[in-house]
Amino acid sequence: MNYDHQIDKALNALHAEGRYRVFQDISRINGEYPKANWVQTDGTQTEITVWCGNDYLGMGQSPEVISALKKSIDSAGVGSGGTRNISGNTVFHKELEKELAELHQKDAALLFTSAYNANEATLSALPKLFPNLVILSDELNHASMIEGIRHGNCEKQIFRHNDVKHLRQLLETIDPSRPKIIAFESLYSMDGDFAPIEEICDLADEFNALTYIDEVHAVGMYGAKGGGVCEMLNLSSRIDIFNGTLAKAYGVIGGYIAASPRFVDAIRSYAPGFIFTSSLPPALAAAATKSVRLLKENTEIRKKHQDIAKQLKLRFRGLGLPFDDHGSHIVPIHVGDPVKCKMISDRLLNDYGIYVQPINFPTVPRGTERLRFTPSPVHTQEMVDILVNAMDELWSHCELSRLKITA
Ligand SMILES: Cc1ncc(COP(=O)(O)O)c(C=O)c1O
Repeated sequence: MNYDHQIDKALNALHAEGRYRVFQDISRINGEYPKANWVQTDGTQTEITVWCGNDYLGMGQSPEVISALKKSIDSAGVGSGGTRNISGNTVFHKELEKELAELHQKDAALLFTSAYNANEATLSALPKLFPNLVILSDELNHASMIEGIRHGNCEKQIFRHNDVKHLRQLLETIDPSRPKIIAFESLYSMDGDFAPIEEICDLADEFNALTYIDEVHAVGMYGAKGGGVCEMLNLSSRIDIFNGTLAKAYGVIGGYIAASPRFVDAIRSYAPGFIFTSSLPPALAAAATKSVRLLKENTEIRKKHQDIAKQLKLRFRGLGLPFDDHGSHIVPIHVGDPVKCKMISDRLLNDYGIYVQPINFPTVPRGTERLRFTPSPVHTQEMVDILVNAMDELWSHCELSRLKITA
């Protein structure tokens, strides 16, 4: 076996398909996000505007969050020094978990180093708690949920995206005495569409199933206190297990689940992905606590966020650019071709100083390649004007089709 040859073959296949991923080196400028410096291979630096970040509200540069981080680093140092069980359980972790439990109107929460880790570790541990479990999973669930379900090795049934009729059909075929969990997301990050949460909860009640929801792209941004779409729709009490991140709207790092104390105790005790890894640095937990608290109070930032997203969609619609509007803050423009998608992304960066990473397979299905814009309250009117003008010019240049503009 020629190992190098095999590796080259795998990489060349990505190049041939036009989906080889090029990471852009950027250096964020503290206090000026979404401005950043783009560092090219020859060392040249160009100021750019980030339009694809998941620091959705700019909290990664909030002076209060930064100050909380600095203060706790000064008091507690950097690393946690261990797993939660062996010396890595600090007051900062406990405080954050209390805050997160309250955010979701639950009595307990459990921190992980990322939401990926939280999904993977929790879902893969479930079959240990519930022998003969069936997990019903939305077909567009995030990779972390898919991997968790796969590692748990229990029976899984995939329902068509957001299709409650299909979910019902599947539930009807399962022996009523078997334990069942319905796993889905509240807001799907690549299309920006919402799940029919209430109808899924109704089915869960009818068929005696537990509900597991990933609110990663909603926490901090939806609901009166940032508790996500479930809080916004007054459905928190109908969800058994929440998953969320501290790395997107909260601008820090880490993930969690929020659920009943009994459930959290079981995951804490049975999930290898929680047990056998060092806990988050305490200062990052302190920074995240600050961010969660700030966003519980700051309803104005959530309104500004929605307003700018609406404005950007209106402007894109005026140009006839093809995108689906599901009423969320995520604005995906469909290109449908990996090569063109990369070309537009490169031109935006090189010619206009606009950074939007092309999204391709396996993040989205082949043929649905897109540019995913994430407007935030810290994008200015001028930045919107520059982006809209650039997209108009490039769309014409690439001879891509436009939708008919209806009044
Ligand atoms: C739906 C969903 N769940 C979980 C994650 C993982 O979040 P984290 O970045 O905290 O690992 C992501 C990441 O983008 C996601 O889109």
